[in-house]
Amino acid sequence: MTVFFIGAGPGDPELITVKGQRLVRSCPVILYAGSLVPPAVLDGHRARQVVDTAPLTLDEIVALLREAHRNGHDVARVHSGDPSLYGAIGEQIRRLRALGIPYEIVPGVTATAACAAALGCELTLPGVSQTLILTRYATKTAMPEGEQLGDLARHRATMAIHLGVRHLARIVDELRPHYGEACPIAVVYRASWPDEERVTGTLGDIVEKVAATDIERTALILVGNVLAAEGFADSTLYGAAKR
Ligand SMILES: C[S@@+](CC[C@H](N)C(=O)[O-])C[C@H]1O[C@@H](n2cnc3c(N)ncnc32)[C@H](O)[C@@H]1O
Repeated sequence: MTVFFIGAGPGDPELITVKGQRLVRSCPVILYAGSLVPPAVLDGHRARQVVDTAPLTLDEIVALLREAHRNGHDVARVHSGDPSLYGAIGEQIRRLRALGIPYEIVPGVTATAACAAALGCELTLPGVSQTLILTRYATKTAMPEGEQLGDLARHRATMAIHLGVRHLARIVDELRPHYGEACPIAVVYRASWPDEERVTGTLGDIVEKVAATDIERTALILVGNVLAAEGFADSTLYGAAKR
C-alpha cells in the first residue's frame, strides 16, 4: 500500500503526467484538493472512495489515509500543479512517516510553466535573466527572514508570485524600486482552464488594467524583462559557432 501524491497540473486535464493519470485510474481511493483540481482530471477512475479534501482538516485527511492503509488500499492524493509547491504536502508527509505509511511523489506541471506557455515566452533569456524565483505574497503565512519581496526583487531575476493577486498594488509598490516602472509584468488567471485570462502591462499600468477585470484569485503574477519579446541576444545553444 502506498500514498501517491500526484501533481494534477494547472487545470487542463491533458496536463497531468501519464504516470499520474495511470495512478488516478487504478487507485481504489482518491483524495483530491477540489478547490484547484478539476473533476475532469479524475475521468476514467475506478475508485471505490473519492473524497474532495477542500473542506477537511489535516487530522481528517490523515484519518482517511490511515483507514486506506489498514485496508491495504493505494491512495491517489491529487494536488494542483506540482505537489511540492505550496501544496501543504509537507505536513501530510510528516504524519505518514510517523505512522510508517509509505508514500511517493509524482511531479506535475506547475502553474508557472502553464503561465509561461499561455504567454508564449521563455522565462530564462541569455543576458536578461538566467534565474527564476518562485515565491508567494505573505499574508497569513509569514515570510522567513531575507525572503521579503524587496529582498528577492533586488536580484531583478524573473519572478513568479503566487497567491498575491489581491495585493497587486502593494506588490507593485515593492517591485518598482528594483525593476523600474517600465518593466513588463503579467497576471495570468487560471492558466490552461477554458476561462483563462491574461493581462499584460508594465509595473506602471498593471494595477489599473487588472482592476478593470474580475480577477481576484487563482492568478499568478510574472514579472521580469524576459516578458518583453524583442531586443535580446540569441542563446549559444543553437548558435552557428557550434558547427
Ligand atoms: C496553493 S498554490 C498551488 C500551486 C501549485 N502547487 C502549482 O504547482 O502550481 C495556488 C496558487 O498557485 C497559482 N496557480 C495555481 N494554478 C494556477 C493556474 N492554473 N493559473 C494561474 N495561477 C495558478 C495561483 O497563484 C494560486 O493562488
